[in-house]
Amino acid sequence: MSNVILPPEWRIREDKVTPETVFNNRRDFLKTLGFAGLGIAGALNASPAWATGKMIDVLARLSNGKWPAITSLKANASFTADRPISNEKSALTYNNFYEFTMVKEGVWKLMDRFKTQPWKVEVTGLVKNPAIYDIEELIRKMPVEERIYRHRCVETWAMVVPWAGFPLSELIKKVEPQSEANYVRFVSFHQPDAAPEQAKNPDLPWPYKEGLTIDEAMNELTFMVTGIYGHQLPPQHGAPLRLVTPWKYGFKSIKSITRIEFLETRPATFWNTLIPKEYGFESNVDPNIPHPRWSQRREKMIGTGEVYATQKYNGYGKWVADLYE
Ligand code: MTE
Repeated sequence: MSNVILPPEWRIREDKVTPETVFNNRRDFLKTLGFAGLGIAGALNASPAWATGKMIDVLARLSNGKWPAITSLKANASFTADRPISNEKSALTYNNFYEFTMVKEGVWKLMDRFKTQPWKVEVTGLVKNPAIYDIEELIRKMPVEERIYRHRCVETWAMVVPWAGFPLSELIKKVEPQSEANYVRFVSFHQPDAAPEQAKNPDLPWPYKEGLTIDEAMNELTFMVTGIYGHQLPPQHGAPLRLVTPWKYGFKSIKSITRIEFLETRPATFWNTLIPKEYGFESNVDPNIPHPRWSQRREKMIGTGEVYATQKYNGYGKWVADLYE
């Protein structure tokens, strides 16, 4: 599919990338840079962020209780961020979900026909115990916890959010990969009736696909997400199951996963197939490697517009740098 001609709107517009002048105007703010990586303080199983009373339960209000709170959710205090958690409403209403629209502010308005329950996830390929899980049954079996992670989009916007989910390694242990399994491929859904861009642009390489090496998949940070801000995941964030790899650019964090496959060779992925020169398979956050059309040195937080210097591996080098040595 590499000869697909991208509709112009599929090209990320340069004016959507934070311009240099904005950074210059924020010189004072930039003085506060140099934050000391991620906080690793506190005991395990502290209260989750949503329960501290500091965050308004916007999601519950907007959704009329459609995405209920996750009961008995405990926070893993090894994963906190030394920046304020992004405003919940901003995260909920500014999304990339190209199956629906290219307009980030419009994704949440197009979710009506996208049914995420019931939902099955197939785990297949080079594993000893292939399985098809009902999502609710899978979640019940897994050690769900809350982790606050940074999220850095390749387009230079960023957020800090409390995800709920379980480490992918826990699922991998269940299915027992065979020794030839070198890669894991994640496949999203194909529902042109519910997702307007899948209907409008049928020649694009749907469904959305992503991949990791088996070592990346087994890394402690690699998180299968089922909730956000203490609630079940709303559809615009990739319900009912998405991947989150916080040291990689956000497009690796595939939403609404239907299949997980264990493979011997490197799989094709959605963006790498469409524009290989711009979106690599590995795509670790790195301020020293500019995108062909813009710098990756800085990032702008959604909601506040605050600007930070981007860190290598998005500040998660302690967990992942040895994977790439
Ligand atoms: N997953 C699917 N299935 N489709 C997408 O378009 N966009 C990716 C990623 N996962 C995408 C996806 C991109 S580019 C980003 S930055 C993040 O989702 C955005 O996640 P958020 O909307 O929850 O912030």
